[in-house]
Amino acid sequence: MTKKNTVTITDNRNGNQVDLDILDPTIGSPTIDIRKLHNELGLFTYDPGFQATASCKSDITYIDGDKGVLLYRGYPIEQLAEHSNYLETSFLLIYGHLPSHVEYYDFIGIIKQHTMVHEGIKHFFNGFQHNAHPMAIMVGVVGALSAFYHDSLDINNPRHREISAHRLLAKMPTIAAYSHRRAHGLPLPYPRNDLDFIENFMYMMFSVPSEEYKVNPVAVRAMRLIFILHADHEQNASTSTVRLASSSGANPFACISAGIASLWGPAHGGANEAVIRMLEEIQHPDEIPKYVERAKDKNDDYRLMGFGHRIYKNYDPRAKIIREACNDLLDVLGSTNQPLFDTARKLEKIAMEDDYFLERNLYPNVDFYSGIILKALGMPLNMFTVIFAMARTAGWISQWLEMMEDQEQRIGRPRQIYTGAKVREYVNLSKR
Ligand code: CMC
Repeated sequence: MTKKNTVTITDNRNGNQVDLDILDPTIGSPTIDIRKLHNELGLFTYDPGFQATASCKSDITYIDGDKGVLLYRGYPIEQLAEHSNYLETSFLLIYGHLPSHVEYYDFIGIIKQHTMVHEGIKHFFNGFQHNAHPMAIMVGVVGALSAFYHDSLDINNPRHREISAHRLLAKMPTIAAYSHRRAHGLPLPYPRNDLDFIENFMYMMFSVPSEEYKVNPVAVRAMRLIFILHADHEQNASTSTVRLASSSGANPFACISAGIASLWGPAHGGANEAVIRMLEEIQHPDEIPKYVERAKDKNDDYRLMGFGHRIYKNYDPRAKIIREACNDLLDVLGSTNQPLFDTARKLEKIAMEDDYFLERNLYPNVDFYSGIILKALGMPLNMFTVIFAMARTAGWISQWLEMMEDQEQRIGRPRQIYTGAKVREYVNLSKR
């Protein structure tokens, strides 16, 4: 008799069968547990790009791509965007609940304690080529933290894990700002703990010793939103990279550095920078149809950057929130980049009315609007993905901490379908 809550797989070549359990998430699609498939039937599964495969269980973030829903620990992103701030959201992601008053201020105090980097780390910045991309510097320097903070590197010690998590969250803005300043010959300021997390980052980016620094509240508000919206996004490429790297027992600084490397690609976090490069290349709204035709052409690799998403097939809820903020900001700021923003608005309209994009559910994603906001704020283009990396650090460390406590996790070791040569005899060089 067929058991409930199972799927029966039959190998039609020989009639062999196996019942596989269906696991029920709190919300979302039921998932087949295929762990005994190979033992029982000698079969593997094939799923390049993990289009239908869950790699872990997680309590942290939930996405419903069809309905356009994003929850952090059960809280809708819309509510967090309206009421929370980045450090509170980070606490929520890491510890699983909204902090009490005492927990909140304790956490802020702890993060502030860790904002400085070891003086020795500053020498690293001198070693990079002056025109190095800040993401390249981030990959190097964040990985190098493991050479400095030996006192918290025992990944089997929960307290060490927590200290490393705090250090990563706190030091990321300092490292990010330094990666920008060195390239411009600017001195490396110490963090200012009288400012909040975002204000301090803006101070370290833009202050000069010869003038008093004034916080720009419009910029801080927009950055706060970008940070909350980018804080986590379940098992995306960079988060999966962090998990896979740490599944071998590697230290968290090295693993987050791997996550930064993965994020850098234009299909992922690099998209916000790529959006602006695309708009600059298009130059004038009249040129848009030419680029849209290229994006639709099967023989051309060209894609509209900032459009489409693997999971969201309705709309990206982050994009909906940030689109409003983006329009408000452009109205308030006005800008010397107005032609570029006009091109963006026209491209958004044309693509959203075009059958090719509608049929494939290719809507503007969060990076389309965050790229435009960062440009409007005068953020250097090569810092856009760095800002994404800083924000996503909360998610990466939450997922890493969760994984370290998950008894079911084992070293990540995907299988493959081997398509190479069968066994053949070695031929001596003299006979070839
Ligand atoms: N422009 C033109 N066509 C596209 C685009 C695009 N941006 N994105 C997807 N398509 C087409 C693609 O050619 C394919 O067409 P067809 O079915 O005719 O072969 C179809 O849409 C499905 O595309 P896919 O590549 O199978 O989809 P995917 O889920 O593997 O890729 C994606 C998702 C985000 C990598 C892709 O949409 C893309 O490259 N977008 C541009 C880069 C971008 O904006 N990335 C940021 C993602 S949001 C931030 C983040 O989470 O990192």
